[in-house]
Amino acid sequence: MQEKIYSAKEFATSLGISKNHLLKLESENKVPQARRQQRGKIEHRFYLVEDISRYRKILNKPPLIEDRHVQMFFNFKGGTGKSTLSASYAYAVAEMGIKVLAIDLDAQQHMTKCLGVETSKDTKSIFEVLIDNEDINKVITKTKMPTLDIIPGTLKLSVIENRLPTKDMREFLLMAALKKIENEDYKVIVIDSLPSVTMLNKNAIVASDDLIVPVLPDYLSYDGLGLLFSELSRMNDGFTLYSGSRGSFLDNIHIVINQFKTNEVLSKKTKESLEKHYSRYLADTVIPYNAKMAQATAAGKPIFQYDRKCKAAQQIRALVQEILKLPPI
Ligand SMILES: Nc1ncnc2c1ncn2[C@@H]1O[C@H](COP(=O)(O)OP(=O)(O)OP(=O)(O)O)[C@@H](O)[C@H]1O
Ligand SMILES: [Mg+2]
Repeated sequence: MQEKIYSAKEFATSLGISKNHLLKLESENKVPQARRQQRGKIEHRFYLVEDISRYRKILNKPPLIEDRHVQMFFNFKGGTGKSTLSASYAYAVAEMGIKVLAIDLDAQQHMTKCLGVETSKDTKSIFEVLIDNEDINKVITKTKMPTLDIIPGTLKLSVIENRLPTKDMREFLLMAALKKIENEDYKVIVIDSLPSVTMLNKNAIVASDDLIVPVLPDYLSYDGLGLLFSELSRMNDGFTLYSGSRGSFLDNIHIVINQFKTNEVLSKKTKESLEKHYSRYLADTVIPYNAKMAQATAAGKPIFQYDRKCKAAQQIRALVQEILKLPPI
């Protein structure tokens, strides 16, 4: 995984200051000297992702996110973009200098693959944590991006449903496991799930602060949302007894239209219906249909490594900013 390199202008924006201000601080030795690389005859300043939090500390700027957010990409319907978007979303957050833990709950390992992370027969997943009481801190794998770690998916997850129902407090196991993560630097935990009402998914719903629901702009996806909301309210009724101060599962749902085609009537009509019936939940940011997304998936790369300037990549960054309420970076 190749790391994002920031120019002085981009880096200054991530700190909320102008480029001139950054250069002035550097000339006054109030911040470290920038990294430099020779291109032709000119030496250019450049900065890396890990510099963002370091510089923010030096400048006494608050971290972009104070409290940890657990965010699950979820939809009962298959193929709506959960894995593609969750991987790109996690990568985009990490590129902003925010420490991210991605968790892949799917035996198909699509999120893991989209992030270009390879697994072996010895790789452990959340299966070992929830079923064999393995320490969650020991199943975290580092990626080449310093601000992005992952608990990868493995084939073993395909049999987790047979084992979870026999456990005590079976819906709360993931929530409890996440509380045992020792590294407090993780500010965002991004979970990719499978398209079903499974006990593992219920664990993730209970553990999450935000549910991000990608939908395709077509009739069946729209129709499927009704089922999703009724299932979540049913779960909510059952959980009110246990959840204490935790709000309703319906409080923080973000429906995200994915694969939107500007020149397609069905796309426009479905968007209008969503705006009418789900306006409270609908994200402003829309992810367009973009062949580059599918090509990036096939290449096992997040979109930001495949074509970071394409419209879909820009919209995923906008989605991060919208959902995490971040300033423009
Ligand atoms: N915005 C987009 N533009 C073009 N293709 C996309 C876009 N988003 C996702 N895709 C493609 O759509 C296909 C399905 O996406 P993905 O696997 O992420 O869906 P999913 O919801 O995770 O599926 P499943 O329910 O099987 O887990 C993939 O081939 C992916 O590359
Ligand atoms: Mg998937």
